[in-house]
Amino acid sequence: LLPVYDRPMIFYPIQTLVEAGMREIVIVTGGNNAGDFIRLIGNGKEFGLKQIHYTYQEGEGGIAAALSLVEPYVRGEKIVVMLGDNIVEGSIRSGIAAFRKQRGAMVYLAEVDNPNAYGVPVFRKGRIVKVEEKPKRPKSNYAVIGVYIFDHTVFEAVDHIKPSLRGELEITDALQYLIDHQYNVQARHLTGYWTDTGKMDDMLEANRWVLEQI
Ligand code: G1P
Repeated sequence: LLPVYDRPMIFYPIQTLVEAGMREIVIVTGGNNAGDFIRLIGNGKEFGLKQIHYTYQEGEGGIAAALSLVEPYVRGEKIVVMLGDNIVEGSIRSGIAAFRKQRGAMVYLAEVDNPNAYGVPVFRKGRIVKVEEKPKRPKSNYAVIGVYIFDHTVFEAVDHIKPSLRGELEITDALQYLIDHQYNVQARHLTGYWTDTGKMDDMLEANRWVLEQI
């Protein structure tokens, strides 16, 4: 809910999803301020959404645990998952279109100076064979950003993974499950600006970027 320039952070991912053609979303919140999201976003009409659902994650179980809360709304369809603190400049429309003919998962990659702060892909012969969460010695300069496209198999993955050392069900481990079980995990390079505003410096930088766009 913190503002990035003139809008609450969550407005940016919602706008990215709507621009890409999404009309039904599920927002997973947690903590003590979940009600503020409903007050702010309401039924989603102002964003161009047809339907919005809210669900509540108790504690800090991780992104993959948050995703499992969404399964009842999905009805076997393909989904786009976007983290509420990620801001992207480019459109994800073409990735979604490409995924219509694909199973498994599609991830977006951005080149970064500090891959050890993110999920990092390991490539062999141009394909992702591994995704490492915040590795001390990253094997590439790419971050797997917080935009993922999945088919229903991701819920099988989420059901099978175990909590990481930080006690969370990691989205990275769900991706690894899909790779290990021979599901197709494709990567696309994101064009334009991307940031995860989870840290103060990145948040300041995001404010600067939005300001420059005006
Ligand atoms: C999460 C994911 C990480 C991903 C990042 C993108 O990290 O675990 O794989 O690269 O989002 O924003 P977190 O921000 O939860 O530390």
